[in-house]
Amino acid sequence: MDLATDRASIDRELERLCAGPALGALPAPVAEAIRYSILGQGKRLRPILMLAAYRACGGQHDASALASCIEVVHAYSLVHDDLPCMDDDDMRRGRPTTHRVHGVTIATAAGVVMVPLAVRAACDAGAHLGLSNPSQAAIVRELMRASGGGGMVGGQLLDLEGEGSSLSIDQLERIHSAKTGALISASARIGGIAAGASEAGLDALTAYGDAIGLAFQIADDVLDATSTTAALGKTAGRDVQLRKSTYPMLLGVERAIERARSLVDDACAALERAGLRTASLEMLARYAIARTS
Ligand code: IPE
Ligand code: IPE
Ligand code: MG
Ligand code: MG
Ligand code: MG
Repeated sequence: MDLATDRASIDRELERLCAGPALGALPAPVAEAIRYSILGQGKRLRPILMLAAYRACGGQHDASALASCIEVVHAYSLVHDDLPCMDDDDMRRGRPTTHRVHGVTIATAAGVVMVPLAVRAACDAGAHLGLSNPSQAAIVRELMRASGGGGMVGGQLLDLEGEGSSLSIDQLERIHSAKTGALISASARIGGIAAGASEAGLDALTAYGDAIGLAFQIADDVLDATSTTAALGKTAGRDVQLRKSTYPMLLGVERAIERARSLVDDACAALERAGLRTASLEMLARYAIARTS
C-alpha cells in the first residue's frame, strides 16, 4: 500500500468524523474550530505511521478510522501549542492558527473536547475492526498515556518552563521525547497492538518510535532555524524569538542533523532485529528527518 493512498483514506476518515454526530452535538462555534484544526493540511505522519506498523505486524484490514484518532489528538496538541499562553503563534499549516480565526476561548475549548472525541472514535473504530475489548482498552490507554503528564502535555510544560534558560542536551532530549516523541512512538505501538503483535514486536516498535519521535523534533528544530515561513506553513525562527533551547542551538545545525540521522539508523536497526523492517517503516523513518515542512 503506498503512502499517498493511506493519506487519502485518513483524510476521508477525518472528514467523516468532522461531519458526524459527535461534532453535531457540540456548540456550533466549537465544532467549527475543531473542523478547522483537523481538516488543515497536515502531513498525517502519525496515522500513516500507525498503518505502516499495523501492516508490518500482519494487520490486514483497513485500520484508517483507528489511525485517524491519533491525528485528532495531534491536531489538538497543535491548537493548544499555538495559544497565546504557549507559543503564541499566528500561523499553522499555511493559514491563521485556530485561535486567530475562532478566538482563544473557543480554540481552548475545542482542543480540550478533541481528547474525548478521539477516545470515543478510537473505541468505535476498534470495535468496528473486530478488536477484543482488552486490545481496545490497550489502544486507548496507549493514546492517553502518550498525551498525558508523562508524555505530550508534560513535555509541553517543561518546554515552556525552559524558555529563557539554557538547558543541557539531556534535559532537552527528555522534553523532546515527551512533547513529541511519545505520541509518535504510541502511533507505532498502536499499530502493533491493533495487529496483535507479540511483546517482542511491540518492544521493537517502541524502540523505533522513540528514536524517530526524537529525531522528528530535532528536525523540527532544525527547520525552524534554517527554513522559511512560506516553506513551513508556520512561523520560522520562532524558537529563537521565544528563547527556547533547541538542538541546533546546543549542538549546531550539522551535529543536530547527524544526531537525527543516527537515531533513524538506530530505529531501523531495532526493526531489523525483530524482523519488522518493512520498506514503509524505513521510508517513514527517513522522511521524519528529510522532510521540508
Ligand atoms: C508539528 O507536527 C508539531 C511537532 C510535534 C513538531 P507536524 O510537523 O507533524 O505537523 P503537521 O501535522 O504536519 O502540520
Ligand atoms: C510542539 O513543538 C510539540 C507539540 C506537542 C505540539 P513545537 O512548538 O516546536 O511545534 P511547532 O514548531 O510549533 O509546530
Ligand atoms: Mg511548542
Ligand atoms: Mg510551537
Ligand atoms: Mg517547532
